[in-house]
Amino acid sequence: MKICCIGAGYVGGPTMAMIAHKSVDHTVTVVDLNKARIDAWNSESLPIFEPGLDTIVQASRGKNLFFSTDVEGSIRDADMIFISVNTPTKTYGSGSGRAADLRYIEKCARQIAEVSEGDTIVVEKSTLPVRTAESVKRILESNSKGRQFQILSNPEFLAEGTAVQDLEAPDRVLIGGSQCPEGLAAIQKLVDVYASWVPREKIITTNLWSSELSKLTANAFLAQRISSINAISALCEATGADVDEVAHAVGTDSRIGPKFLKSSVGFGGSCFQKDILNLVYLCEHFGLPDVATYWNSVIEMNDYQKHRFARRIVTTLFNTVSDKKIAVLGFAFKKDTNDTRESAAIYVCRDLIEELANIAVYDPKVTEAQMRRELSLATDDTQLTVCKDAYEATCDAHAVLLLTEWEEFKALDFERIYRDMHQPAFLFDGRNILDLNALREIGFEASGIGRG
Ligand code: NAD
Ligand code: UGA
Repeated sequence: MKICCIGAGYVGGPTMAMIAHKSVDHTVTVVDLNKARIDAWNSESLPIFEPGLDTIVQASRGKNLFFSTDVEGSIRDADMIFISVNTPTKTYGSGSGRAADLRYIEKCARQIAEVSEGDTIVVEKSTLPVRTAESVKRILESNSKGRQFQILSNPEFLAEGTAVQDLEAPDRVLIGGSQCPEGLAAIQKLVDVYASWVPREKIITTNLWSSELSKLTANAFLAQRISSINAISALCEATGADVDEVAHAVGTDSRIGPKFLKSSVGFGGSCFQKDILNLVYLCEHFGLPDVATYWNSVIEMNDYQKHRFARRIVTTLFNTVSDKKIAVLGFAFKKDTNDTRESAAIYVCRDLIEELANIAVYDPKVTEAQMRRELSLATDDTQLTVCKDAYEATCDAHAVLLLTEWEEFKALDFERIYRDMHQPAFLFDGRNILDLNALREIGFEASGIGRG
């Protein structure tokens, strides 16, 4: 088959690279309107950082994997088209701040209807509100000129930082489609693509609406676990219990399981908040306000945690951070990615900047321009300094905040850091990854979320 993917972002790029790598019989072209992004995909310096991605892109690029800005040409030739464009939270009009903004999806559907020539299978890869396929179908059919379109939902479950391993050995692949003979045939075609490397029993097929809703539900459940343990972290701080010990004790119950119970300064990333807001909006739309309130509390708890962390820093530093240098280690929303969307670091830095602190940040993969954009700070704004390493960021600082769990931070020479800081020196571990007792022995006043 000729496969086209519209959208060369964090999902489109890695997903299609894996399909091209594993299903060599297919030719895969990833297209995007953003020329700079496509140029980067065609260069030695890929636009996104993901461990292992370079290798699989290099193995297939120019053979059966192509990156191009020729959106129309690629749609015209394709037997199967994945839509992998962004679906951010709407920032205007009705549903603003909650509903998903589907304008990019609609634009793709109209373009496919206009340009494609054969009977094409259209695959929703983006995360979408339940029943979006109905709208996509109507747009396609109103311009079909006798052609047949089948719409499938194939949401993506990869996590950033582990995208390649998640794609290579997924827990499951989910494919939804209409249950008529043509729909089932289209489902089978996509099953065959994945079956090149994914065991058949891990490929789940459902109707369209179940597939669309399962994606939102999966993200809501994952985020809910983090908000639940973060809520308990506040109680731990008040009572002297250690949240890591509580999480371990709770997670060893096989019905609960140990994953996604790491308390933190709050979940970030482009999707958890957006997808839960979307779920909340849908519940309200379908007349289920109590269900909406339940899920909304997951977001409220996350906001509470981010602000609570910032407040705690100010209180601990004798109620003022004005003119104090505060070192921030890590700006990405998690380790092994250069993505900063909705990173907890943004919220913590903003709160501290409002308190007139001077922030010195070091992150191994995030550029200064990106940090300034996220914090809405001009290039000459001196409240932010971006440092070349952790030692420069922490030198002369009053406090160190650890906001991303990069492996390299665990290996830092904290004795040296302590020596070069203002005394008393405070360390706040927002990811609960450091040995706080060892840091206290060095002299730090150390605390982690829910660990005292
Ligand atoms: P992204 O912003 O990184 O990439 C989207 C790309 O689509 C952009 O490069 C944009 O230029 C392009 N685009 C938009 N409209 C276009 C059009 N009409 N024609 C051509 N290109 C167009 O977004 P992402 O992080 O890859 O997310 C994409 C979707 O996948 C979202 O719905 C998201 O919720 C979902 N998702 C993301 C992740 C993740 O880890 N980032 C994981 C699972 C699912
Ligand atoms: C998440 C899901 O894990 C993916 O399955 C999903 O495909 C994706 O969203 C999506 O739809 O975009 P991602 O956001 O890339 O993936 O990364 P996660 O590993 O889920 O981490 C999200 C945030 O939660 C990070 O800020 C992380 O630090 C935080 N987190 C995670 C915790 O605070 N505690 C934990 O125990 C786990």
